[in-house]
Amino acid sequence: MIRNTISLALLAALLACGNGDNAAKMASAPSAPAVDGAKIFKVSCAICHGNDGKLGLNGSKDLSVSVLSLEDRIALITTGKGLMPAQGSILKSDEIKAVAEYTLTLKK
Ligand code: HEC
Repeated sequence: MIRNTISLALLAALLACGNGDNAAKMASAPSAPAVDGAKIFKVSCAICHGNDGKLGLNGSKDLSVSVLSLEDRIALITTGKGLMPAQGSILKSDEIKAVAEYTLTLKK
């Protein structure tokens, strides 16, 4: 009986350790990929669209009035359109999603 109690305590301690590890992993996970849509926009997009999305260089659309959905933005950014260069081979898909989400924040 005593032995059982001890092994249960050990088991509980082991499980607690396991959970502690998972909690640590989960706490560090969100910062690991750290995709910064605003930063990508400034590097890859602002040259035509401007920091506020309104520059309109090379006939680029004013992003502050764009009505495209997030899905349409992701598709357009991936494949490019007209004078806008395709980003599909330059940016990773999570970066394209992050920058597409950022363009939504430029809307008035
Ligand atoms: C070389 C200039 C250029 C660069 C760099 C550029 N764009 Fe564009 N963008 C354009 C042009 C031109 C259009 C208009 C395309 C068309 O409809 O013919 C456009 C259109 C768009 C649209 C669609 C707006 C609408 O309502 O139709 C979005 C969204 C967009 N760009 C986002 C981005 C993002 C995000 C980046 C950076 C990853 C980027 N663009 C980089 C030139 C550029």
